[in-house]
Amino acid sequence: MAHPTIADLFKSQPIDSTVTLRGWVRTLRNDQFLSVSDGSTIRTMQIVVNKEQHGESTLKRLQTGASVAATGKVQKSLGKGQDIEIICDTLEILGDCDPNEYPIQMKRHSLEFLREKAHLRFRTNTFGAVFRIRHHLAFAIHKFFNDRGFYYLHSPIITGSDAEGAGEMFRVTNLNPEEIAAKGSVDYSEDFFGKPTNLTVSGQLEAELAALALGKVYTFGPTFRAENSNTSRHLAEFWMIEPEVAFNDIVDNMDLGEDCLKFCIQYALDNCKDDLEFLQERELNEDKQKPVDDRQSMPLLERLNMIVSNEFERITYTEAIDILLNSNHFKKKKFKYPVEWGIDMQSEHERYLVEKHFQKPVIITGYPAAIKAFYMRMNEPDEQGRKTVAAMDILVPGIGEIIGGSQREERYEMLREKCAQFNIPEDHIWWYLETRKFGTCKHAGFGMGFERLIMFVTGMSNIRDVIPFPRTPQNAEF
Ligand code: 4AD
Ligand code: MG
Repeated sequence: MAHPTIADLFKSQPIDSTVTLRGWVRTLRNDQFLSVSDGSTIRTMQIVVNKEQHGESTLKRLQTGASVAATGKVQKSLGKGQDIEIICDTLEILGDCDPNEYPIQMKRHSLEFLREKAHLRFRTNTFGAVFRIRHHLAFAIHKFFNDRGFYYLHSPIITGSDAEGAGEMFRVTNLNPEEIAAKGSVDYSEDFFGKPTNLTVSGQLEAELAALALGKVYTFGPTFRAENSNTSRHLAEFWMIEPEVAFNDIVDNMDLGEDCLKFCIQYALDNCKDDLEFLQERELNEDKQKPVDDRQSMPLLERLNMIVSNEFERITYTEAIDILLNSNHFKKKKFKYPVEWGIDMQSEHERYLVEKHFQKPVIITGYPAAIKAFYMRMNEPDEQGRKTVAAMDILVPGIGEIIGGSQREERYEMLREKCAQFNIPEDHIWWYLETRKFGTCKHAGFGMGFERLIMFVTGMSNIRDVIPFPRTPQNAEF
């Protein structure tokens, strides 16, 4: 291997062979032990240099962040903390890094500070670990679905439809805003697509069209929501995975969601051990600064292992509301928002159920029809005549909702009725309705927020720290 990475070297341990390693300086200790990282692993390589051979002026330039190429023999290390090291023969400094200007020094920086330096934060241990894990999880998603015979579908990013009916969309246009303002009105027939279009909020409707022929499909792409929610769990641009399966019902859908989550977590446990151990240590240190109540009840790896080895709890919305109403938390008036049948549960309610009551992931089904999207399948009214849909949300500790999905309304007349109720003109969605006319069948699917999955696996508590360049209200830097 002409240019092995640090990961390659630790794996193959080519003792006595001469290699050239290229990377970035972390530290230089005693003018002798140079620690270099190259992004291939969280581990650094120790390069043994010496003043006589490489010259004092070169050693002075070995500042944190400088890029170097070091050639030398791989040896078993005598020092503690690493099994091998490189005894440096020739040392080349590829790019200097002025310590007076470089903001990323070998001390703890706050995550808030690093968000402002998102172009450089990849260079820290924390973000290196997070983005390596992000890659492995993306790979795990594709592996999970490919292994099960799903086809990866590329749904459009520019669309004329509003899948979720929530209306929080980014407009796509090439009309000139100044001209529109001068005219005082917009003529969409003059717009690029000849009609109003937006960035997609979900690929689901298109995935349904494909599933009703290909059987099992999934999308995995960026989605956009112009909701003005400045929380640690919302982004304006996030990545979503949306499987859709013909002939599946809501129970099959729950099984698929639970299996998919467990598979991804197990994949990370098997393939990202060093990075997860680093993040676990990091979290333990952070927790020491926090009040006892805010600390994690279990270390990261234990939490992840617990998820993969236990069944998720499955309850109905009605049961969830009963649990909340009977809780001491409710009786002591500790919930900020009201609790009664029909509410759209707030994150305090979801977190109570998952973190306090069950202390494990929970799948809630049978939500009130009025608070869910038009495409969800109507259930028979309950004993009290209340209308619910075959919806499911999967909630996990520390995050809340990680998956949202449903069995779809496959009955033509029923779906038309729902469109009317939700004020969706049939001539906007005729193509979706047609699938219910031509060989309709039951089918189901869900959406999993990719960043929420990464948060859960890494233990990172702010969604802005698991996507390279977060887009949030008032922020589209880099
Ligand atoms: O619950 P949502 O809105 O469901 C849908 O979009 C459906 N069309 C999915 C489907 O059935 N195919 O979103 C699905 C998931 C949520 O559970 C959450 O994990 C994530 O997407 N999500 C967000 N993640 C980050 N930032 C946001 N603003 C998000 N909104 C939703
Ligand atoms: Mg949802």
